[in-house]
Amino acid sequence: MDKATDPTECFISFEGGEGSGKSTQIKRLAKTLRIRGHTVILTREPGGSPDAEVIRHVLLSGQAETFGLHMEAILFAAARIHHIEQVIRPALHADKIVLCDRFMDSSRVYQGVTGRLEPDFMSNLERIAVDGVIPNLTFIIDIPAQIGLERAHKRSMRNNMKPDRFERESLEIHEIRRQAFHDLARNEPDRCKLIDGTKNEDAVALAVLEWVDAIIPICAKRTDGKGRE
Ligand code: TYD
Repeated sequence: MDKATDPTECFISFEGGEGSGKSTQIKRLAKTLRIRGHTVILTREPGGSPDAEVIRHVLLSGQAETFGLHMEAILFAAARIHHIEQVIRPALHADKIVLCDRFMDSSRVYQGVTGRLEPDFMSNLERIAVDGVIPNLTFIIDIPAQIGLERAHKRSMRNNMKPDRFERESLEIHEIRRQAFHDLARNEPDRCKLIDGTKNEDAVALAVLEWVDAIIPICAKRTDGKGRE
Protein backbone atom coordinates (compact mmCIF):
# COMPACT_ATOMS: atom_id res chain seq x y z
CA MET A 1 0.00 0.00 0.00
CA ASP A 2 1.13 3.57 -0.68
CA LYS A 3 2.61 4.82 2.60
CA ALA A 4 1.04 8.21 2.05
CA THR A 5 -2.38 6.62 2.37
CA ASP A 6 -1.63 3.92 4.95
CA PRO A 7 -4.21 4.66 7.66
CA THR A 8 -2.30 2.66 10.28
CA GLU A 9 0.74 4.94 10.31
CA CYS A 10 1.10 8.58 11.19
CA PHE A 11 4.02 10.43 9.69
CA ILE A 12 3.54 14.20 9.41
CA SER A 13 6.09 16.65 8.03
CA PHE A 14 6.17 20.42 8.39
CA GLU A 15 7.61 22.52 5.60
CA GLY A 16 7.93 26.17 4.69
CA GLY A 17 10.39 28.99 4.21
CA GLU A 18 12.77 30.39 6.79
CA GLY A 19 11.09 31.81 9.91
CA SER A 20 7.64 30.52 8.96
CA GLY A 21 6.87 29.39 12.51
CA LYS A 22 6.79 25.68 11.65
CA SER A 23 9.05 24.70 14.56
CA THR A 24 6.64 26.33 17.03
CA GLN A 25 3.68 24.62 15.37
CA ILE A 26 5.27 21.18 15.31
CA LYS A 27 5.94 21.43 19.07
CA ARG A 28 2.34 22.45 19.69
CA LEU A 29 1.00 19.52 17.70
CA ALA A 30 3.34 17.12 19.53
CA LYS A 31 2.01 18.42 22.87
CA THR A 32 -1.61 18.01 21.82
CA LEU A 33 -1.09 14.46 20.55
CA ARG A 34 0.81 13.47 23.71
CA ILE A 35 -2.04 14.79 25.85
CA ARG A 36 -4.30 12.54 23.76
CA GLY A 37 -2.19 9.57 24.87
CA HIS A 38 0.04 9.03 21.84
CA THR A 39 3.76 8.43 21.82
CA VAL A 40 5.18 11.13 19.61
CA ILE A 41 8.65 11.36 18.08
CA LEU A 42 9.51 14.94 17.21
CA THR A 43 12.43 15.05 14.83
CA ARG A 44 14.00 17.25 12.17
CA GLU A 45 15.97 17.37 8.94
CA PRO A 46 18.67 17.69 8.05
CA GLY A 47 19.62 15.65 11.10
CA GLY A 48 17.42 13.72 13.46
CA SER A 49 19.90 10.88 14.14
CA PRO A 50 23.48 11.15 15.42
CA ASP A 51 25.22 10.59 12.08
CA ALA A 52 22.72 12.75 10.20
CA GLU A 53 23.33 15.57 12.70
CA VAL A 54 27.01 15.50 11.70
CA ILE A 55 25.96 15.93 8.06
CA ARG A 56 23.61 18.74 9.15
CA HIS A 57 26.53 20.65 10.57
CA VAL A 58 28.55 20.25 7.36
CA LEU A 59 25.59 21.45 5.25
CA LEU A 60 24.35 24.39 7.31
CA SER A 61 27.79 25.77 8.11
CA GLY A 62 28.32 26.10 4.35
CA GLN A 63 31.35 23.77 4.36
CA ALA A 64 29.74 21.62 1.65
CA GLU A 65 28.95 24.60 -0.59
CA THR A 66 32.31 24.37 -2.34
CA PHE A 67 31.56 20.74 -3.32
CA GLY A 68 28.74 22.00 -5.55
CA LEU A 69 24.96 21.65 -5.57
CA HIS A 70 24.84 18.00 -6.63
CA MET A 71 27.03 17.00 -3.73
CA GLU A 72 24.95 19.05 -1.30
CA ALA A 73 21.78 17.32 -2.56
CA ILE A 74 23.46 13.93 -2.12
CA LEU A 75 24.46 14.85 1.43
CA PHE A 76 20.88 15.83 2.29
CA ALA A 77 19.78 12.46 0.87
CA ALA A 78 22.48 10.59 2.80
CA ALA A 79 21.38 12.23 6.03
CA ARG A 80 17.77 11.33 5.18
CA ILE A 81 18.60 7.66 4.61
CA HIS A 82 20.24 7.42 8.00
CA HIS A 83 17.44 9.32 9.72
CA ILE A 84 14.76 7.09 8.19
CA GLU A 85 16.53 3.85 9.01
CA GLN A 86 17.56 4.79 12.53
CA VAL A 87 14.60 6.84 13.70
CA ILE A 88 11.55 7.19 11.45
CA ARG A 89 10.92 3.66 10.18
CA PRO A 90 11.41 1.96 13.59
CA ALA A 91 9.13 4.53 15.25
CA LEU A 92 6.34 4.01 12.69
CA HIS A 93 6.63 0.24 13.07
CA ALA A 94 6.22 0.70 16.82
CA ASP A 95 2.97 2.65 16.26
CA LYS A 96 4.51 5.94 17.29
CA ILE A 97 3.49 9.19 15.67
CA VAL A 98 6.39 10.84 13.83
CA LEU A 99 6.45 14.60 13.36
CA CYS A 100 9.33 15.85 11.24
CA ASP A 101 10.48 19.46 10.89
CA ARG A 102 11.34 19.49 7.14
CA PHE A 103 11.67 16.38 4.99
CA MET A 104 11.85 15.46 1.29
CA ASP A 105 9.89 18.52 0.11
CA SER A 106 12.66 20.82 1.33
CA SER A 107 15.04 18.98 -1.01
CA ARG A 108 12.56 19.34 -3.86
CA VAL A 109 12.32 23.08 -3.27
CA TYR A 110 15.80 24.13 -2.09
CA GLN A 111 17.94 21.78 -4.19
CA GLY A 112 15.51 20.94 -7.01
CA VAL A 113 13.87 24.29 -7.75
CA THR A 114 16.24 27.00 -6.53
CA GLY A 115 19.30 24.77 -6.95
CA ARG A 116 18.05 24.04 -10.48
CA LEU A 117 19.16 20.42 -10.32
CA GLU A 118 17.89 18.10 -13.03
CA PRO A 119 14.38 16.72 -12.27
CA ASP A 120 15.53 13.15 -13.07
CA PHE A 121 18.49 13.40 -10.74
CA MET A 122 16.26 14.78 -7.96
CA SER A 123 13.48 12.23 -8.35
CA ASN A 124 15.93 9.30 -8.43
CA LEU A 125 17.70 10.63 -5.36
CA GLU A 126 14.40 11.08 -3.54
CA ARG A 127 13.21 7.58 -4.41
CA ILE A 128 16.43 6.03 -3.13
CA ALA A 129 16.49 8.18 0.02
CA VAL A 130 12.90 7.81 1.19
CA ASP A 131 12.49 4.20 0.07
CA GLY A 132 8.71 4.33 0.43
CA VAL A 133 8.64 6.34 3.66
CA ILE A 134 6.48 9.27 2.59
CA PRO A 135 4.55 11.51 4.98
CA ASN A 136 0.81 10.85 5.26
CA LEU A 137 0.36 14.57 5.67
CA THR A 138 2.59 17.59 5.00
CA PHE A 139 1.90 21.08 6.30
CA ILE A 140 3.37 23.96 4.37
CA ILE A 141 3.38 26.96 6.67
CA ASP A 142 3.22 29.88 4.30
CA ILE A 143 4.39 33.43 4.94
CA PRO A 144 5.86 36.12 2.67
CA ALA A 145 9.61 35.53 2.35
CA GLN A 146 10.50 38.99 3.65
CA ILE A 147 8.61 38.51 6.94
CA GLY A 148 10.10 35.04 7.38
CA LEU A 149 13.64 36.17 6.76
CA GLU A 150 13.27 39.05 9.21
CA ARG A 151 12.03 36.62 11.85
CA ALA A 152 14.85 34.15 11.10
CA HIS A 153 17.50 36.88 11.33
CA LYS A 154 16.09 38.14 14.63
CA ARG A 155 16.16 34.55 15.95
CA SER A 156 19.78 34.12 14.86
CA MET A 157 20.78 37.38 16.57
CA ARG A 158 18.90 36.42 19.75
CA ASN A 159 20.79 33.12 19.85
CA ASN A 160 24.08 34.79 18.98
CA MET A 161 24.32 32.76 15.79
CA LYS A 162 25.19 33.75 12.24
CA PRO A 163 22.54 33.16 9.53
CA ASP A 164 23.10 29.66 8.08
CA ARG A 165 24.10 28.74 4.50
CA PHE A 166 20.50 29.01 3.23
CA GLU A 167 19.28 31.97 5.32
CA ARG A 168 22.10 34.02 3.75
CA GLU A 169 20.59 33.74 0.26
CA SER A 170 18.71 36.62 -1.39
CA LEU A 171 15.10 37.59 -0.79
CA GLU A 172 14.39 36.79 -4.44
CA ILE A 173 15.52 33.18 -3.99
CA HIS A 174 13.39 32.81 -0.86
CA GLU A 175 10.37 34.17 -2.73
CA ILE A 176 10.94 31.58 -5.50
CA ARG A 177 10.98 28.89 -2.80
CA ARG A 178 7.68 30.16 -1.47
CA GLN A 179 6.14 29.84 -4.92
CA ALA A 180 7.63 26.34 -5.26
CA PHE A 181 5.95 25.32 -2.00
CA HIS A 182 2.67 26.70 -3.39
CA ASP A 183 3.17 24.56 -6.50
CA LEU A 184 3.74 21.49 -4.34
CA ALA A 185 0.49 22.11 -2.48
CA ARG A 186 -1.32 22.50 -5.79
CA ASN A 187 0.22 19.35 -7.30
CA GLU A 188 -0.29 17.08 -4.29
CA PRO A 189 -3.43 18.44 -2.61
CA ASP A 190 -4.21 15.21 -0.74
CA ARG A 191 -0.89 15.14 1.09
CA CYS A 192 0.18 18.81 1.19
CA LYS A 193 -1.87 21.42 3.03
CA LEU A 194 -0.98 25.09 2.70
CA ILE A 195 -1.53 26.91 5.99
CA ASP A 196 -1.55 30.70 6.31
CA GLY A 197 1.36 31.35 8.68
CA THR A 198 0.61 35.08 9.00
CA LYS A 199 -2.35 34.28 11.28
CA ASN A 200 -1.79 34.20 15.02
CA GLU A 201 -0.18 31.15 16.59
CA ASP A 202 -3.43 29.75 18.02
CA ALA A 203 -5.25 30.06 14.69
CA VAL A 204 -2.44 28.27 12.85
CA ALA A 205 -2.38 25.50 15.49
CA LEU A 206 -6.14 25.04 15.12
CA ALA A 207 -5.94 24.84 11.32
CA VAL A 208 -3.21 22.20 11.63
CA LEU A 209 -5.16 20.12 14.14
CA GLU A 210 -8.32 20.24 12.04
CA TRP A 211 -6.45 18.70 9.09
CA VAL A 212 -4.82 16.06 11.28
CA ASP A 213 -8.18 15.01 12.67
CA ALA A 214 -9.81 15.01 9.25
CA ILE A 215 -7.10 12.99 7.53
CA ILE A 216 -5.51 10.72 10.14
CA PRO A 217 -8.20 9.18 12.35
CA ILE A 218 -5.62 7.26 14.41
CA CYS A 219 -4.50 10.61 15.87
CA ALA A 220 -7.72 10.78 17.88
CA LYS A 221 -7.58 10.30 21.67
CA ARG A 222 -6.21 6.89 22.63
CA THR A 223 -8.42 4.82 24.82
CA ASP A 224 -6.27 1.68 25.02
CA GLY A 225 -3.82 3.29 27.48
CA LYS A 226 -0.84 2.07 25.41
CA GLY A 227 0.47 5.49 24.43
CA ARG A 228 2.75 7.51 26.66
CA GLU A 229 4.33 10.95 26.58
P1 TYD B 1 17.07 24.92 10.00
O1 TYD B 1 17.96 25.66 10.93
O2 TYD B 1 16.49 23.64 10.46
O3 TYD B 1 16.05 25.95 9.45
P2 TYD B 1 14.52 26.13 9.58
O4 TYD B 1 14.28 26.58 10.98
O5 TYD B 1 14.23 27.17 8.54
O6 TYD B 1 13.90 24.79 9.25
O7 TYD B 1 17.89 24.71 8.66
C1 TYD B 1 17.56 23.83 7.69
C2 TYD B 1 17.99 24.46 6.37
O8 TYD B 1 18.30 23.43 5.45
C3 TYD B 1 16.88 25.28 5.77
O9 TYD B 1 17.42 26.47 5.25
C4 TYD B 1 16.39 24.43 4.62
C5 TYD B 1 17.57 23.59 4.25
N1 TYD B 1 17.24 22.28 3.70
C6 TYD B 1 17.53 22.00 2.37
O10 TYD B 1 18.05 22.85 1.66
N2 TYD B 1 17.23 20.77 1.87
C7 TYD B 1 16.67 19.78 2.63
O11 TYD B 1 16.42 18.66 2.15
C8 TYD B 1 16.39 20.08 4.02
C9 TYD B 1 15.77 19.04 4.90
C10 TYD B 1 16.68 21.34 4.50
